Amino acid sequence: MHDMNVRMRINGESVTLDVPPNEVLLDTLRTRLGLTGTKDVCRTGDCCACTVLLDGRAVNSCLMFTAEANGSDILTIEGLTQNEKLHPLQEAFVEEDATHCGYCTPGMIMSAYALLQENPNPTRKDVEEALAGNLCRCGTYYSAVNAVLKASQKLKQNLRSSSLAFRKSEQVDSCSLSFQLHHSWRSIPVD
Ligand code: FES
Ligand code: FES
Repeated sequence: MHDMNVRMRINGESVTLDVPPNEVLLDTLRTRLGLTGTKDVCRTGDCCACTVLLDGRAVNSCLMFTAEANGSDILTIEGLTQNEKLHPLQEAFVEEDATHCGYCTPGMIMSAYALLQENPNPTRKDVEEALAGNLCRCGTYYSAVNAVLKASQKLKQNLRSSSLAFRKSEQVDSCSLSFQLHHSWRSIPVD
């Protein structure tokens, strides 16, 4: 079998690889690219520990050939952290003690991330349904759902703070504009 040339964007970076046609995305991420946050458990689509986002959709990376991801945008758990700051979902999982051995946690967080992208105001039932496929041997389900609900609040709060900051900067701009207009008006020579 000849290797196939595959181009993807992974966590915002362009990646070009030659991979065997039967290599699954999970192995490409973990073994070739060292992105071991995506977990390898059942390899049969039953546990969702290997969940990543493919063009915004949560998928089981153990069930997908890497070649099928050609041209796609992939987000893994490593891509959620920005400038070494945890994503609000990651923070909430820590705060709600929703991670025990932690093996299922990246998959849960990626499923939750996909949910919040689609529905920023989920009910408890929405969250339970979104995480229904993510198996956890340590039984963190209740805390994990709490964490996702908490993260949705945090994200809304962040959005409110940034739109407030934006409005303030607009006010500063309009103040400086009126100041400039005032001065340009005064500088017009009066004959
Ligand atoms: S490792 Fe992919 S679903 Fe379990
Ligand atoms: S925290 Fe251990 S499997 Fe979920």
